[in-house]
Amino acid sequence: MTCFEDLVNFFSDKLKTEINTLGQREPKKLYEPVVYSLNMGGKRLRPALLLMAYQLYKNDLEKALPAAFAIELFHNFTLLHDDIMDNASLRRNIETIHIKYSNNAAILSGDAMSILSYEYISKSQTNRYQDLIALYTDTALKICEGQQFDMDFETTSQVTVDEYLTMIGLKTAVLLAASLKIGALLADAPEKDARLLYELGYNLGMAFQLQDDLLDTFGDQNEFGKNIGGDICLNKKTFLLINALKIARDEQLTELEKWISATHFDKSEKIERVRRIYVNLGIAEITKDKIDSYFQVFQQKWEQLNVNKQKKECLLVVANKLMSRQN
Ligand code: IPE
Ligand code: IPE
Ligand code: MG
Ligand code: MG
Ligand code: MG
Repeated sequence: MTCFEDLVNFFSDKLKTEINTLGQREPKKLYEPVVYSLNMGGKRLRPALLLMAYQLYKNDLEKALPAAFAIELFHNFTLLHDDIMDNASLRRNIETIHIKYSNNAAILSGDAMSILSYEYISKSQTNRYQDLIALYTDTALKICEGQQFDMDFETTSQVTVDEYLTMIGLKTAVLLAASLKIGALLADAPEKDARLLYELGYNLGMAFQLQDDLLDTFGDQNEFGKNIGGDICLNKKTFLLINALKIARDEQLTELEKWISATHFDKSEKIERVRRIYVNLGIAEITKDKIDSYFQVFQQKWEQLNVNKQKKECLLVVANKLMSRQN
């Protein structure tokens, strides 16, 4: 049984060849940002999950590669557009595409990546092709919906925890869920397993985005690779902010609301002040508890997964690792 690191290495090695081919396409200005984005690294989590699920049932991993490329391309495409939307200048410790090239480049190269991802997924050889494409399309659309809610919430004052959870389910969790389910579909796994793997991925994805929110405020910039405090500056309705607004009282609530409504402010000051309020309110602990509750559901579902225990161990190992990730 090959575990996470081996799968990432296997995938990254194969991806190199694809990147080289893409780098030879014309016009250069369309494909250069694509290559830059794919060469920036990243955890390669989603393709690794896809391969991991496939491996639970079959060993000929090569067959799952087109779908694994597709999912990583799609993920990176969303990041190109997300970084414009979030005005983010740093990712994986280097300049984001819209900063290094231009907004237009990030938009169009992002579009190309999304289309290329469809080209890859359609190369998948499976007798469940219809199911595969339906799942892929449903997932892609859900991500757009989640991203729109995320943007809408920046300027909505009363966002509930439930609305937030729905939003991150759409923008993030469905892609991890789909990665695992696609692996299962390609391996012709029993329908029951494919469904369960989707749920496993969904719960993992929820924990993953909550951890991302936490790191955006409390992480170490060098390790996280993204600008710390970006969410605070944009009044993103993260789990942190929603809970702070719920429990803050008196001067703390007034101060928090003042920072949210401020139009001209010093970024570092706002980040520092809001972070201090979070610390006083114990927001990190509340967030960690929520992360843990998703992990527990993940674990329960993992127990239910009726495959060889040794084979599925890897899934639990990677989930555990993600719970304490710093990047
Ligand atoms: C970033 O995803 C976007 C989120 C859903 C939080 P990752 O943290 O998986 O990004 P990379 O690919 O490893 O950089
Ligand atoms: C992004 O959420 C989710 C998608 C890209 C679909 P974030 O905006 O929190 O992701 P990061 O923090 O920029 O990676
Ligand atoms: Mg975003
Ligand atoms: Mg972002
Ligand atoms: Mg984030």
